Amino acid sequence: MTEITTRYDLVAYPAGLFPTTLPDHMAAIARLHGLDAAAPAKARVLEVAGGDGVNLIAMAAAWPDARFHSFDLSSAAVGRGATLVAAAGLDNVRVEVDDLLEVADRLDGPYDYVIVHGLYAWVPEPVREAALRLIGRVLAPEGVAFVSYNAQPGGHLRSAIRDMLLHHVGDIADPVERVGAARKVLEQFVAPREGDRPVVAALRQIAEPMLRKNAGSLYHDELSDCYAPQSLSQVAAAAEQHGLAFLNDAVPSMLYDGLPGKDLDDAAVVHAAQADDYVAASFFHQTLLVRPGRGPCRRIVSANVAGLLASSQATRTGEGSFAAGEDRFEIGDPRLADFIGLLGEVWPARLPLAGFADSLEHCEALVQLAHKTLIGFHAVPYPACLDPGERPRASPLARAQIASGATNLFTLDHRMVAFVEPGPRAFLSLLDGTRDRAQIAAAWEQSEFGGQVSVDEALSQFARAGMLIA
Ligand SMILES: C[S@@+](CC[C@H](N)C(=O)[O-])C[C@H]1O[C@@H](n2cnc3c(N)ncnc32)[C@H](O)[C@@H]1O
Repeated sequence: MTEITTRYDLVAYPAGLFPTTLPDHMAAIARLHGLDAAAPAKARVLEVAGGDGVNLIAMAAAWPDARFHSFDLSSAAVGRGATLVAAAGLDNVRVEVDDLLEVADRLDGPYDYVIVHGLYAWVPEPVREAALRLIGRVLAPEGVAFVSYNAQPGGHLRSAIRDMLLHHVGDIADPVERVGAARKVLEQFVAPREGDRPVVAALRQIAEPMLRKNAGSLYHDELSDCYAPQSLSQVAAAAEQHGLAFLNDAVPSMLYDGLPGKDLDDAAVVHAAQADDYVAASFFHQTLLVRPGRGPCRRIVSANVAGLLASSQATRTGEGSFAAGEDRFEIGDPRLADFIGLLGEVWPARLPLAGFADSLEHCEALVQLAHKTLIGFHAVPYPACLDPGERPRASPLARAQIASGATNLFTLDHRMVAFVEPGPRAFLSLLDGTRDRAQIAAAWEQSEFGGQVSVDEALSQFARAGMLIA
């Protein structure tokens, strides 16, 4: 039986994959600033307090030549992750039990990418300090670190809701009762009342998403012992103490935080981004840190954009008209429209920008599209196979998940997808690399699902879903 030592052993935190923590994504942002960043395919990656480690386990399945190491205090969480690693037969990822407070001074580096997601604003000051101390010790000279946290000033508003919840749940210790009591308070609170003052209406809006959180998130995120939202300025100042400097935010919609378009020093960049946070009432940051003195370029420069690749899910609906999900947008420049149209056609493949990003005007337009998440920037080609060969092989991680009965599978392009239909599950299980297409077809025909879909069609669908190994 697992020994209960932490609140995270008692109540599991929901496993998540975080695309903004991908080395591919961090490398793309670093290169957009003209910095060298380690090749994602061969990177050494550390995740601090990674819970069950699935964020890195999913990356490890996609990048066999990179090395991944996740640690966490919760032995229950790490136990789940280690079981998955063993079942998938991955030899490039370690998931271990460790206390950040203990390893901050002894873990050996260097690491090209260090990720601290969902820890920094929920732990006391000594643990926060240990996180930055560890990054400061192990980050490679050209490394990039990622630290996410509930940010100020939005955190003040969330604190008001949290105070209300704690007022009502008091010292209820049983997690189920505690979460149940908090939900009741939220249900009553979020309902609008006639004559609501704008400030109360705003608080109700902030509380509403909390109601939709699952029990683990609500218990740990809103009702935790420690809740310490940070301002960007605070984090940048604390990071500086450990030989780290602000690069940018990892969230595309905050891309201009670190790319103000003028030559400012790091302190002025942080000052301006903090000023924007007050205006926008920012709630969350995913701050990227690098070694100081690397001189990130704070302007959009063609040579930096040209070194990247891009992807887009946009569909061309007219000469210069596009649709991407609910969004509709127009592109006046015919050459840019053709390029975005092409990206949409080849999705999920990525195209190099080298041949396109030749004018500053086009580069600025591309950054604008990335900022609006209508295109994505990448440092590497699509990580999964789009053209299945004679002996197609599915991700060993997805196959292990199917074998264990899991219904949310991790794709090689770092998404979690619901995968419940028995036919596709059976088909994917056949793709273990031992069968060629003829043998797959024979096994598929003999199965109870044979005839549902042709082997070629199924392979093409799984390839586009990021399930096949390149
Ligand atoms: C909110 S969860 C986040 C997990 C994961 N990083 C994510 O974002 O989904 C916080 C994690 O921090 C871990 N943690 C807290 N204090 C720690 C410490 N001193 N050393 C290592 N892990 C710690 C907890 O066990 C928990 O798994």
